[in-house]
Amino acid sequence: MKKVYGVIGDPIEHSLSPVMHNAAFEALEMDSIYLAFRVKVKDVEAVLSGAKTMGMVGLNVTVPLKEKVMDYVKLDPLARKIGAVNTIDLTTGIGYNTDGLGVRRALEVRDVQLSGRNVLLIGAGGAARAIAFLLVEEGADITIANRTKERAISLADTIGGGVKGTGLDELDGLIEGADILINSTTVGMHPNVNDSIASSDMMHPDLVVFDIVYNPIETKLLSEARRAGAKTIDGVMMLVHQGAESFRLWTAQKPPIEVMERAVRDALK
Ligand code: ATR
Repeated sequence: MKKVYGVIGDPIEHSLSPVMHNAAFEALEMDSIYLAFRVKVKDVEAVLSGAKTMGMVGLNVTVPLKEKVMDYVKLDPLARKIGAVNTIDLTTGIGYNTDGLGVRRALEVRDVQLSGRNVLLIGAGGAARAIAFLLVEEGADITIANRTKERAISLADTIGGGVKGTGLDELDGLIEGADILINSTTVGMHPNVNDSIASSDMMHPDLVVFDIVYNPIETKLLSEARRAGAKTIDGVMMLVHQGAESFRLWTAQKPPIEVMERAVRDALK
């Protein structure tokens, strides 16, 4: 019988996960389908129980349900640390978080090492949290800079491992000393496409700039980085690699990364 997967969240209609996972299933000739479901916070328990009862195999979880679903799954240790679940294996009842793994993989495939490197992570929200835990595990030297300085300090304290938290006022000096800059904020996202957390004159050619915003694919931050001669990694890479990690967990198969990436880039055109 056909295996059924899906993503739950609200809003959900613009999710690119169905296009990405269905392309992967097709490429590997798997008799499986992936659908999007709009689910309200109050209905999470009923939805998870119903999905499992009906024999669905796996779910991705997005805003605003990533914390709520934690009450109804067994937690993988990393998801527990991060405090959010984005992937559920309904056959085992385990909840995972692949967001940080996605960033790590995206850097890996572009030959960017993390161990011992100075990483400047901009933002202190849910995305920053998932990324920061992974970076610290990889032995990166992390500074978190956020508009609301207190949030950066609080996140740095939670993560420990010598992570520093600060505001955005000294961004110039911080970028100068950084090997890798990761934007985990929504700055530059459609419709505010002319906004950028930093400009080219603040950057150097040895810098790697990774923007998790994928709409537009080339954000203002990335075009500034390109002008400075820096290496750029776009948000599609994070989306694809977090999805690929979910795919791997559910199917125990090697995800067809290139197919998934092409499907997402085509859908964004
Ligand atoms: P998510 O879970 O997607 O990371 P979030 O928790 O709302 O979302 O966090 C959004 C991040 O973007 C925060 O770090 C936020 O900064 P504040 O903590 O100061 O709110 C950051 N952010 C959003 N708009 C911003 C802007 N115009 N300039 C700078 N930072 C911004």
